Amino acid sequence: MVASTFPAGFEGVVAKCLAAAGVRVFRMCGGLALYEAEDRFPFFSNTFLVLSSVSGKQAAFEKMVAEAGRSMPKLRNRRGSFRVRFSEGNRFVGVPKSLTLAAEKTIVRNTGMTVDRVNPGTEYWFLLRSEGFGFFGELLRKQTAHKPRRGELRPELANLLCHCAGLPPNAVVCDPFAGYGAIPAQMIRHFPFSRLYIGDTDEERVTLLKTLSADRRVAVSRSDARALDHIGPGSVDRIVTDPPWGVYSPIDSSLPRETLAEFARIMKAGGKIVLLTACSELWVAAAEDAALETAETFPVLVNGKKASVLVLIKAGFGGL
Ligand SMILES: C[S@@+](CC[C@H](N)C(=O)[O-])C[C@H]1O[C@@H](n2cnc3c(N)ncnc32)[C@H](O)[C@@H]1O
Repeated sequence: MVASTFPAGFEGVVAKCLAAAGVRVFRMCGGLALYEAEDRFPFFSNTFLVLSSVSGKQAAFEKMVAEAGRSMPKLRNRRGSFRVRFSEGNRFVGVPKSLTLAAEKTIVRNTGMTVDRVNPGTEYWFLLRSEGFGFFGELLRKQTAHKPRRGELRPELANLLCHCAGLPPNAVVCDPFAGYGAIPAQMIRHFPFSRLYIGDTDEERVTLLKTLSADRRVAVSRSDARALDHIGPGSVDRIVTDPPWGVYSPIDSSLPRETLAEFARIMKAGGKIVLLTACSELWVAAAEDAALETAETFPVLVNGKKASVLVLIKAGFGGL
């Protein structure tokens, strides 16, 4: 069994993706999936081989280290060095030295590896969860080292937003608030489309966006999401986007209304808009004004900040 972490709030989306891939899921909770699969999924952050677990009253680091000592299987073909980490509520925490030493002893005994607390080849984690269980695992895949720039989404999150859109074959897709291009980068790498419109008002970001792909189906423009004159009416199947949150600079209060009026113009009937925002009330109200139906809204955590995913639909037939 393996365990993978992902941005909290997307449990339903991850469950659907795993089911579609025929993966057997044992447990799904706040940003964590325990399942059986060899495949890699781009929406996962860290992935662990689960070596032991505890639940209920036993869920404390002391019990977990003791359980690992009793039940850790012998792992053949392991070489090099490792270190042990203790994580609680998605944060690394300090534990008494005796606990670290006991855990290291167990791992050395079962793998033949050596301890390197500074520059290890791999890591073994004890993860304690608020749901009343914990597991001990070998880190198989670490989330990509890419450090997002200010306002940039992590690739896993951008990937999950694209999944929320459920792209039909030959979809015409658009991200008009593309920023550094986290969403289009996932679209280009992992999703089918026939045309992808990308835009932003910021000149420097548009220059960067132009380096994303040489694919002729990708059209990059310096454009305002409220006036997408280069996109014809009723021509877009999906918009997946992350408008400004008003965190770094205040947003114009008319932005949601004017943007969604423009989105309604370019969308095909039945088309879907997936929007990540920290001010969902403004966007839901604006959706009503633009006669877009709010099909779904769910809370997510983005770098510890509360946000929402909104799925809006342009009423009518076709496009789904
Ligand atoms: C939250 S950021 C998007 C970040 C992006 N998802 C990423 O991962 O890099 C919002 C972006 O919208 C752009 N923006 C602000 N107002 C805009 C407008 N009216 N039309 C188009 N883009 C706009 C900003 O320059 C910024 O890059």
